[in-house]
Amino acid sequence: MTPALRERLVAAAEAAMQRAYAPYSNFFVGAAVLAASGAMYTGCNVENASYGLTICAERNAIFQGVGAEGAQFRIRAIAVSNKACVACSPCGACRQVIHEFGPEAVVVFRGAQGYTSMVANQLLPAGFSLL
Ligand code: THU
Repeated sequence: MTPALRERLVAAAEAAMQRAYAPYSNFFVGAAVLAASGAMYTGCNVENASYGLTICAERNAIFQGVGAEGAQFRIRAIAVSNKACVACSPCGACRQVIHEFGPEAVVVFRGAQGYTSMVANQLLPAGFSLL
């Protein structure tokens, strides 16, 4: 992935983060997915008074992509940002969902020193698959 593309993806994730609904944790997250089609999809975390119903920004963005493109949707890259600017890699549930649509996808997230990236397969070795 080129530095310019990575910057574009991070900027889109940061824009999506502004729309996060996180009144319970105050942890505001945004994600942007670059699909194999070339389209970009974004999402933010959406919390609920019934805490377990919360959806993470990554899955929100990915589901936007599936909703738009259907079963052929594939992830080329995904960027995640958070307002607190702390190290934050995708949670286990999101790793599994990223793996479903892009085991080779580049995942850009905040590490200890700014944004870093890993391949989805590295973040979730031996991810579950039925296909
Ligand atoms: N969250 C995300 O949206 N993505 C992550 O990668 C980690 C956690 C959200 C869920 C919840 O709304 C808040 O961050 C605190 O866990």
